[in-house]
Amino acid sequence: MTEQSATFLLFGATGDLARRMIFPSLYNLLSDGLLPDDFLIVASGRTEMEDDAFREQVCTSLREFLPGDRYDAQTAEKLKAMIAYQPVDAGNAAQFAALAERIDGRAERGLSVYLSTPPSLFAPTAQGLAAAGLIDGNTRIAMEKPIGKDLASSKEVNDAIGALFAEEQIFRVDHYLGKETVQNLLALRFGNVMFEPLWNATAIDHVQITVGETVGLEGRVSYYDGVGALRDMVQNHMLQILSIIAMEPPARMDPTAVRDEKVKVLRSLRPMNGETVKTHSVRGQYTPGAVGGQIVTGYADELGHASGTETFVALKAHIDNWRWQGVPFYLRTGKRMPARQSEIQIQFKPVRHSIFGRNGGGSGLEPNTLIIRLQPEEYIRLTIMSKRPGLERQVHLEEVSLDVSLTAAFAGQRRRIAYERLILDLLAGDPTLFVRRDEVEAQWTWIDSIIEGWQEANMKPASYASGNWGPSSAIALIERDGASWHD
Ligand code: BG6
Repeated sequence: MTEQSATFLLFGATGDLARRMIFPSLYNLLSDGLLPDDFLIVASGRTEMEDDAFREQVCTSLREFLPGDRYDAQTAEKLKAMIAYQPVDAGNAAQFAALAERIDGRAERGLSVYLSTPPSLFAPTAQGLAAAGLIDGNTRIAMEKPIGKDLASSKEVNDAIGALFAEEQIFRVDHYLGKETVQNLLALRFGNVMFEPLWNATAIDHVQITVGETVGLEGRVSYYDGVGALRDMVQNHMLQILSIIAMEPPARMDPTAVRDEKVKVLRSLRPMNGETVKTHSVRGQYTPGAVGGQIVTGYADELGHASGTETFVALKAHIDNWRWQGVPFYLRTGKRMPARQSEIQIQFKPVRHSIFGRNGGGSGLEPNTLIIRLQPEEYIRLTIMSKRPGLERQVHLEEVSLDVSLTAAFAGQRRRIAYERLILDLLAGDPTLFVRRDEVEAQWTWIDSIIEGWQEANMKPASYASGNWGPSSAIALIERDGASWHD
C-alpha cells in the first residue's frame, strides 16, 4: 500500500477548512508538479450543487486564501478540471451509490478519503463508503480532530473506523505535525550533536510551551463552546509538541519508531486529580479588552450567554520517567492573547559553580535559554553569557544571543501550508506525521484526569481581559516555582 492514490475523496468539501486549507494545499501540490496528471478530486458535501458551480467556489477560495503572487489562472483551470462534486448526506445509500459510480474503476488505483466533517459523521460516512463497496486494502482514511471529547468517546470513534479499516489505513490528522517548524524539532534534536547530551533533568531546569492566539471564537460557537482550550489545543497540538520535545531518540525516522517513542512520553505524563489541579492548572475566559489596538468583546458576549468553557489554560505537567524526573513542563494556550505566538523555551540550569563570584558576583550570570519560535516568525535563539568588553577588574557578564532565523536561512523557499505535507503523505501512504490510536488514547487519558480534577474541585474559568496572557493565576502558577513565562 505505498503507491500514490489516484483519487482524493473529500467529505466536508464546502466547509471552512476545505476552503482555507485543503483546496489551497491541493492547488500548491499541483502547481509544484506533485499530483499525477489524471488525479481526481471528488468533493462531497450535503449541499446539492453542479460540478461547475462547485469549481467556481473553489476558485473564489483560492483567490481569497492563496497569497497574492501564488494564484495563476492556468493552474486554477487545471485544478478545476480535476474536481468533481457529488452531494452526499451520511446515511443516504443512494447518494453513496452515485458517489461510487463517479469513482468507478479508479478505487483499485488507490483512494484516499479525507473526513473534514463534524466527528459525529465519521462513522456513518465510513459505513456508507463500505456499503457502496468503496473500501478495500487500497483505501486510506484521514480524520480531522477532534477524535472524541474524552477517552471513552474517542474509543467509540476509533472502534467504528477500526471495524472497517486496518490501523495502517487510518490517518488521524494533527495539522501541527504538518508544520515545518514542528518537524524541525526532530532535526534540531537528532541532527545535531550538541543538544542531546544536555537534553535531560541534569541540565534542564524546566520547559515552557506557549501557543498564543489573538483570535476569539471566529464564529465557531457550536464547535468551541463546551470543548474549550484544553480539548481544542492541549489534547492534540500541544501534547504533540511536548512529546516530540521529550521523546527518546527513535531508531529510525519511520512511522512505528517515531510514534512508539512519542506514546511512551504521553503515557508517562503524571495524571492530575481534584487536589493537584488547584496548583498545577489554571482555566481562564476572556472578557472585553483590546488586542493589537482593536477593542474586542468578551467570550460570553460573542456567545450571547454566560459559559463555563475555558478559552485559556495553563498547566504544569510532569513526565515521570528517568530523563525528565523533576523537570516541570509548563504549557499555556489561549485565545485573545496579546500576540499570535507559538514557542518552546528550554530553560537550562545555572552553571554548577560561578568562578565570577557568588551568584555571579553581581556579574549578571544567567542560565542559558534555548527559544524555538514556531510561529509567526521561525527562529532558534540560544542565549549565552559573554564578557562585557571593558577594563574593570571584575568580569561583567552579559547575555547575548545566537540567533538563527530559519526564514532567512532558507530564503527563497516558499512557506508551505501544513496540509500540503499531510495530504501528500496521505496520498503516499506514509503515516509518520499522523497520530496513532494509542497516542490519541494516551492523550485523552491525561486530559480526562484534568477534566475530572476540575469537576471534583469545581474549578471555573477565571476572567482575563482580552489582550493579556491569561488570568493572573497563570503567572502565579510558574512564579511559585521561581520561574517566569517568556514573553
Ligand atoms: C485548531 C483549533 O486545531 O488549531 C483552533 O481548533 C486553533 O481553535 C487552530 O485556532 C490553531 O492553528 P494554527 O495553525 O493557526 O496555529
